[in-house]
Amino acid sequence: MTTGLNQKVVEFPQPREFDAIEVASRDEIANLQRNRLQWSLRHAYENVPHYRKAFDEKGVSPEDFRDLSDLAQFPFTTKQDLRANYPFGMFAVPRSDVVRVHGSSGTTGKPTVVGYTKKDIETWSDVMARSIWAGGGRPGMIVHVAYGYGLFTGGLGAHYGAERLGCTVVPVSGGMTERQVQLITDFKPDIIMVTPSYMLALLDQFRAAGIDPRESSLKIGFFGAEPWTNAMRHEIEQAAQMQAIDVYGLSEVIGPGVACECVETKDGLHIWEDHFYPEIIDPETGVPLPDGEVGELVFTSLTKEAMPVIRYRTRDLTRLLPGTARSMRRMEKVTGRSDDMMIARGVNIFPTQIEEQILRCDGLSAHYEIELLRENRMDELRIRVEAKPEHADDASRAAQADLLARHIKDMIGVTVAVTVATPGAVPRSVGKAARIVDRRKKE
Ligand code: DLL
Repeated sequence: MTTGLNQKVVEFPQPREFDAIEVASRDEIANLQRNRLQWSLRHAYENVPHYRKAFDEKGVSPEDFRDLSDLAQFPFTTKQDLRANYPFGMFAVPRSDVVRVHGSSGTTGKPTVVGYTKKDIETWSDVMARSIWAGGGRPGMIVHVAYGYGLFTGGLGAHYGAERLGCTVVPVSGGMTERQVQLITDFKPDIIMVTPSYMLALLDQFRAAGIDPRESSLKIGFFGAEPWTNAMRHEIEQAAQMQAIDVYGLSEVIGPGVACECVETKDGLHIWEDHFYPEIIDPETGVPLPDGEVGELVFTSLTKEAMPVIRYRTRDLTRLLPGTARSMRRMEKVTGRSDDMMIARGVNIFPTQIEEQILRCDGLSAHYEIELLRENRMDELRIRVEAKPEHADDASRAAQADLLARHIKDMIGVTVAVTVATPGAVPRSVGKAARIVDRRKKE
C-alpha cells in the first residue's frame, strides 16, 4: 500500500493489522471482552478496597456480570476516587510487583498516581506499537520522541511502543526547541511523536533556521495528549508534507495508545477494544448512550493487573462509531474535555471550535489562547491569536481580527473580543498547551 502527500511517500507492506484481533469479527471481539471483563471486575473487587466498597454500596458483585450490557450496573470511577486513594491505594497487586509508576499532573494539588506490573508495561508497549503500525510506522524507522519523559506517560509510552515495533528511538523529550530541529535535521527521523501545539513551535523553528519543513525527513507525526482539530491536521500536513495521525490515551487507563487513527483512513481513532472497553454516557445523568451519540467517554480496563479501572470517567467528549479500517470501533476526534467548556452569553464553547475558525483565516497562525474575563459580572472571552509573519502589519492584523470575530459570530453564535498579536507574542508550550487563561478576578 502507498499513501503520501506530494513528494513524501510512505510505503508499507501488508498486512494492514499488527495483531489479528484488530480485524476479528465483532462476535469474537465481544466474546473476548466478556471474558476479560469478568476477570477484571473480579480482580478489582477482590484486591482493591475502594472497588469492594463501591460495588457493595451499589449492591453489585462481579457475579452479576454475565453480558456486556451488565456493565452499566457497576459504579463509575472518577479522578476524585484516585485522589482519595493517593498514592498507591488503587493498586490491586503487592507494591513489590509494581515495576513503574506514572502520574498525571493535576493543575492543583497532588498528581494522580498510576502503577504498572511488568505485564502491564508489555501490554502498553504492544498497544502503542500497534498504534504506530496503524499510523504507517514500520520496523527500522527512526522515531523522534518529543513528548515529555517523566511522570507524564507521553515520553516513555511512545518510547516503549516504538522500541517494541523495532524502530530506532531518539528519546529527546520536550523543550530546547532549537536543538530538536537540529537533531531532526541531522538524524533524519521518519516519525515524530509530539503534542500538536509543540509541533507548531517546531515548524516555526524550522523556518527560523531557514529550513522549509517540507524538506525535512519527517513522514508521519503521532499527535495527541491534547485536543486538536482536522483544521490543525491540514495545517501541519501542508506545512511539513507529512501524515498527521491522532493518538489518544490517558494515564489512568494506561497512557498513550488507548486508541489511534489508521493512516489509510484517518477517520477517527480505533479503540484497542481487546484491552479497553469503551462506553459513552450522558455526563449529567450517567446513563449509557447508544453508539453514534455524543457524550462522555468511559473506559474499563480488561487486562490491567496493577491498577484496573472500572468505568473510569475520562471527562472527554466524543462519540463511538463503527470500525472502518479495523473492526474495532472508532472514537471521533475528541471535541474537548467537559472541564474546558466555556460558557459565554449562554453559549457552550470549546477551544477546538475556536481553533477551527482561526484556521479558516489565511492570515492567522494556529498559536492562540483564550482569556476568560469578568466584566460587569458577566463572563467574557477574549481570543489572542498570532498573525502569520507576512500578515503582521497593523492594518492586516486589524482586518484579521474583524474576520475572525465575524466567523465566530456566524459559526458559533457569540460575540467575542479578538486581539491579533504579532508573531511570537503568544506563549509556546513544550507539552500540552494551556488554551484557556482564566483572568477572572475572584469575587
Ligand atoms: O496525555 C497520554 C498521551 C500522551 C496521549 C501522548 C497521547 C499522546 P494524561 O496526561 O493522563 O495522558 O492526559 C489525558 O489528555 O483525558 C484527554 O483529555 C487528553 N488527550 C490525550 N490524547 C488526546 C487526543 C496523556 N488525541 C488527557 N485528543 C485525556 C484529545 C487528548 N485529547
